Amino acid sequence: MTSVHLGLPAVRPAGAGPVAVVPDERFRTGPLRDRHGRTARDLRVSLTDRCNLRCHYCMPPEGLPWLERPAVLDDGEVVRLVSLAVRELGVHEVRFTGGEPLLRRGLEDVVAATAALRTPGGRRVRTSLTTNGIGLARRAAGLAAAGLDRVNVSLDTLDPQRFAAITRRDRHADVVAGVRAAAAAGLAPVKVNAVLLRGVNDDEAAPLLRWALREGYRLRFIEQMPLDPHGTWQRSDMVTAEEVLAALRAEFDLRERPAASRGSAPAQTWDVTDREGRTGDVGVIASVTRPFCGDCDRTRLTADGQVRTCLFSTTETDLRDALRAGASDDELAAAWRAAMWGKRAGHDIDDPGFLHPARPMSSIGG
Ligand code: 5AD
Ligand code: SF4
Repeated sequence: MTSVHLGLPAVRPAGAGPVAVVPDERFRTGPLRDRHGRTARDLRVSLTDRCNLRCHYCMPPEGLPWLERPAVLDDGEVVRLVSLAVRELGVHEVRFTGGEPLLRRGLEDVVAATAALRTPGGRRVRTSLTTNGIGLARRAAGLAAAGLDRVNVSLDTLDPQRFAAITRRDRHADVVAGVRAAAAAGLAPVKVNAVLLRGVNDDEAAPLLRWALREGYRLRFIEQMPLDPHGTWQRSDMVTAEEVLAALRAEFDLRERPAASRGSAPAQTWDVTDREGRTGDVGVIASVTRPFCGDCDRTRLTADGQVRTCLFSTTETDLRDALRAGASDDELAAAWRAAMWGKRAGHDIDDPGFLHPARPMSSIGG
């Protein structure tokens, strides 16, 4: 009898047990390297895809089809993967994101468990949170007590009505109170992330910086990236880093920090002096017009346990099912290393073949 290969997917006999993660010699030890010479040290963990705002550039008014509860890693699973990253994979910085991470009930516990980790060299892990700030006023002190080092709060405007238009929720005062509470709790330096949108808040570069300098926050402008829910992003709508800088130079003295001091930070930083002689700094994250992919040291874990090598990845590596099927730490570590080895050199937003990632920002983690 001849056997004909029909190219059909292999069918696993029922009861065959979980598929073992195939250990590959190349991925048995070491940090998260890729084939372009980068090593990931900074882990971004999304703790939920849900959010209590509906920013136009991120979500439709009705929200998104949220992950079902069982699909989301529980606290123990998150802590296991974060520990593995710190103990075995060379990660020394962990940032919690969402959706909105303050919506995650176990956040303080996950932060405490992470802050207690030590790298193989005995160093503390740096921990931070990217949040929209709603509810932060109540939680900042507890998060600091749990060992959180810093927060980044997203705030695009100083005007409550504009805030409501951008986020579809009337919560400006809550966010401002959250930023203030974070600073008071010592989650410093508090960074404020702002996205400028053409015709909406593109006149606020200077006012936002004035406010940040006065309050002692570190403001960073982020170019809008093609991660919107409908894939309608257009380059011409984006307020570029150059435009932001031009607006700032009209009012402030800006001095760029030397490139060498930037390291793998996505923000280019300027030391700033205002007309009253107040000093501070401002960052610009020009992901689109000045991509920093060559220095990227990030690896990402989604709320449902998928490793993403980049915000713009079109593929993911599932650690959740492996973990739930009983994979060992060594197997999980090998799968993570293998995933990172395949990280692409850049995001290619300018390439005609650029593919908008299937997940929106809220479910990848900022
Ligand atoms: N481009 C740039 N920044 C974005 N954010 C959300 N969506 C986008 C986008 N498409 C920002 C939020 C927040 C951080 C998590 O990412 O405003 O500051
Ligand atoms: Fe929520 Fe952030 Fe998306 Fe706004 S940008 S809807 S705050 S996840």
